Amino acid sequence: MNTIFVKDIKDYLGQEIHLRGWVRNVRKSGKLMFIIFRDGTGTIQTVVYKPGIGEEKFELSKTLTIESSVEIWGTPKEHPNKPGVYELDVTDLKPVCISPEYPISKKEHGPDFLLSNRHLWIRAPKQWANLKVRHTVYHSISEYLNNNSFTRFDSPILTPNPCEGSTTLFEVEYFDQGSAYLSQSGQLYLEPAIMTLGRVYDFGPVFRAEKSKTRKHLTEFWMMDAEAAFVEHQENMQIQEGLIRYVIRTVLEKCSNELEILERDVEQLKKADAPFKVMTHYEAIELLRSKGCEIEHGEDFGANEEALLTEGSDVALFIEKWPKKIKAFYMKQDPENPDLVLGSDLIAPEGFGEIIGGSQREDDYDVLLARMEEEKLDIQTYEWYLDMRKYGSVPHSGFGIGLERLVQWMTGTKHIREVIPFPRMIYRIYP
Ligand code: 4AD
Ligand code: MG
Repeated sequence: MNTIFVKDIKDYLGQEIHLRGWVRNVRKSGKLMFIIFRDGTGTIQTVVYKPGIGEEKFELSKTLTIESSVEIWGTPKEHPNKPGVYELDVTDLKPVCISPEYPISKKEHGPDFLLSNRHLWIRAPKQWANLKVRHTVYHSISEYLNNNSFTRFDSPILTPNPCEGSTTLFEVEYFDQGSAYLSQSGQLYLEPAIMTLGRVYDFGPVFRAEKSKTRKHLTEFWMMDAEAAFVEHQENMQIQEGLIRYVIRTVLEKCSNELEILERDVEQLKKADAPFKVMTHYEAIELLRSKGCEIEHGEDFGANEEALLTEGSDVALFIEKWPKKIKAFYMKQDPENPDLVLGSDLIAPEGFGEIIGGSQREDDYDVLLARMEEEKLDIQTYEWYLDMRKYGSVPHSGFGIGLERLVQWMTGTKHIREVIPFPRMIYRIYP
C-alpha cells in the first residue's frame, strides 16, 4: 500500500492509501465521523462510517481531538458535485498522539495570545498559507537570479562595521577583538564579491535594533542583497523590476490555493505584473504636497507618505535620486547634482510600502572617502571596503529586498509578524 501526501491524492483515486498527519477538526453525526485531516501538503475531508469500519475502530475514531496526530488508511474519491475536491473513505486509523484541548480555537484570540502561542498558531490555515507563499517567494527570487548569471555568495552575520548607520545596531562582545555587530545587510561584502564573480547575491537573516513598533518592522528579518559589476542606476532598477514581476507571476501560478485561503485579491496582484512607475524624490515631494501633505523637500517618507504616493496605482513605484543627506554613505553621487545620490526605493502598491532599497555605489575612491569622513565613520574598520575603489574599481549597483515585506504584499497580510515563522520585535522574543 502506498504512503502518500494529500497533495498527490488525485493520482490515487479508488486505490487504498495511507496518510500520516493531524486532525484539523472533527464532526460526529450518528454513524458517521468526519475528520478534517491535514499533513502539511494539503487538507482533505475523511469519512469514518461505523458499519464499514466496525464498532471498535469507530469508538477509536471518537477519541480523536483537534490537533491530535493520526495515521489513516482509506480510499480517496472525487466529490460528486465539486470537481477537484477529494474525500477519503476511511478503512482504518491509528491515533499517534491524542491532544488535550487545543489552546487555539475558531473564536477570536488577541494578537498577544496568538504570538505567545506562535509555535501552535503556525498550524492555522492562514499561517500555513503564509509560510507556503514565503517558501515560493524565497525560491522564485533565487531562481530568477540564478537564471540571470548571479552567483550566491554568503555574507557574514558577525561584522566589524555597520552597513546601514549606527542607530539600529545590535552589538556583541567579540572575544578580545572589541565589539562586533550583527549584520544589517550583507551589501558591503557583496561588493568585493562582484570583483571575483561578476554578479552575486546573498540571502539570510539580518538584524536591526529598530525602535519602531509598526506593522512593517521586525528586529530580525530576511534580506536578499544583490550586487552586479558594470550595472548602473537605470539597469539596476530594470533588474529589480524583472525580478519582482517574476515573483508575482510565480506566486500566482504556484500558490492559487494559498492565496484563496488568505482571501488575497488576486486580480490586484495580476495587475501589478505591468511596467513599474518611476519618479524622482523631488517629484514625489511635489506630489505629496499637492495632496495636502505637510512635507518639505529633502525629507524622508513615512508609511503614510508611501501609501499616498502609490494611491490609485496598480503597480509598484521607484522613487529615485534621493537627497544625499538622508541616504547611506555608499550611494553614488548624481553627476548632475552633487546633493543627490543615484539611489532608488521600490514602493509596493496597496499600501505595502518600501520593499526594496538599492543604489549605484560610489566607485570613486576620493569621493567615497570624503563622504565617509563627512559622516564620521571609523575609516580604519572600512579599509577593506575602500580597497574596492583601488584595485580594479568598476561602476556597480545593487539592491536589497526585505523578504517579509515582499511576502506581506504577495499574501496581502496586514502585519509583518505573520509572514515570518518566529517574529522578533522590540517587545517580543518568546517563543
Ligand atoms: O533599504 P534598506 O535599509 O537597504 C539596505 O540595507 C541596503 N544595504 C540593501 C542593498 O542595497 N543591498 O533595506 C532593504 C529592505 C527594505 O527596503 C525593506 O524591505 C527591508 O529591507 N527592511 C525591513 N524589513 C523588515 N523589518 C525592518 N526593520 C526592515 N528594515 C528594512
Ligand atoms: Mg530603505
